[in-house]
Amino acid sequence: MSVDAVVEWPNFLHIPQEDSLTVSRPKGQALSPYIWWNGEIQTAQTQSIHYYANALHYGTAVFEGIRCYPTEGGPALFRLEDHMQRLLGSAKLYGMNVPYTVEQLCQGAIDVTRKNGVSNAYIRPLAFFGYGPIDITPKKECSVNVFIATRELGYFLGEKALRNGIRTMVSSWRKFPHACMPTMAKASGHYANSVLAAHEAYDRGFDDAILLNLDGTVSSTSGGNVFFVKGHTLFTNDETSAIVPGITRDSVLTLARDADVEVKIRPFTREELLRADEVFETGTAAEITPIHEIDGVEFRTGKNTLAAQLQRTYMAAVTGKNAQHADWLTLVGS
Ligand SMILES: Cc1ncc(COP(=O)(O)O)c(C=O)c1O
Repeated sequence: MSVDAVVEWPNFLHIPQEDSLTVSRPKGQALSPYIWWNGEIQTAQTQSIHYYANALHYGTAVFEGIRCYPTEGGPALFRLEDHMQRLLGSAKLYGMNVPYTVEQLCQGAIDVTRKNGVSNAYIRPLAFFGYGPIDITPKKECSVNVFIATRELGYFLGEKALRNGIRTMVSSWRKFPHACMPTMAKASGHYANSVLAAHEAYDRGFDDAILLNLDGTVSSTSGGNVFFVKGHTLFTNDETSAIVPGITRDSVLTLARDADVEVKIRPFTREELLRADEVFETGTAAEITPIHEIDGVEFRTGKNTLAAQLQRTYMAAVTGKNAQHADWLTLVGS
């Protein structure tokens, strides 16, 4: 890549040039010893869920994925309140009356993360309809249970994926439309669609799948939001394209706007995506992962791309090195 290419994104030059991807992270996804279970911290793996829990049969659970990153002030949870608000929003759409406030859930996440002593971690709050009759109106009689689990998490798709990008295919499975399911909700039942697409990609040797909407516009990957770069403009879609409006997506849009990158938010088609200069996906687990291939069509990757500039800026924000967005972090304390 020529030096000229660096100057393509001059507004990122003030971000420390350190290579955040060389910082070592845990290799596995070790489970933590404690869990927050219906309001109290317990030893994990002693809990049981009834075999007739409604969620198991009908997918009636809602959940979140939150990252914990090491910072100078100790482990910090990224955009904790936004995640807990989205959790309660998803629950509301499914008639699930979660007996905890956003503040209580945030405190639960802080307490269990601190107790587990993790710093590179994935926090999984999940609310589900428990035991009840076989009918499909769980709001009538099923209990609502909530847990917050933590486990170690380093690079989700591997450090190489963050640096060099992943190979994707367009799935033959389409994304379910928001006229059929509340696509903005992060609900367990919705992920059957993602699993089908991800399995198809896996079986064909790809790293991930891109799902199109019924009208042929792009929705998302199996678990992330899709962005592309054409010229000097950054594009992504919104909830009218049946996406989960990602918190990483929102952070990336903010960081791009901070750097005066032109952003266009609108539906886009597969052929527009295939003609892009760069493509990347965003998500709590995947962070900012470049996509270097869709069905044999190649895209730019490497340190001079906008994706790399945004990745560096994002890594600075999540590890407390961007004072402008210090409010995105909640310190867990010791
Ligand atoms: C289908 C889907 N879209 C988008 C996202 C990205 O959301 P976020 O950035 O809040 O993790 C996720 C991951 O949570 C997802 O599963």
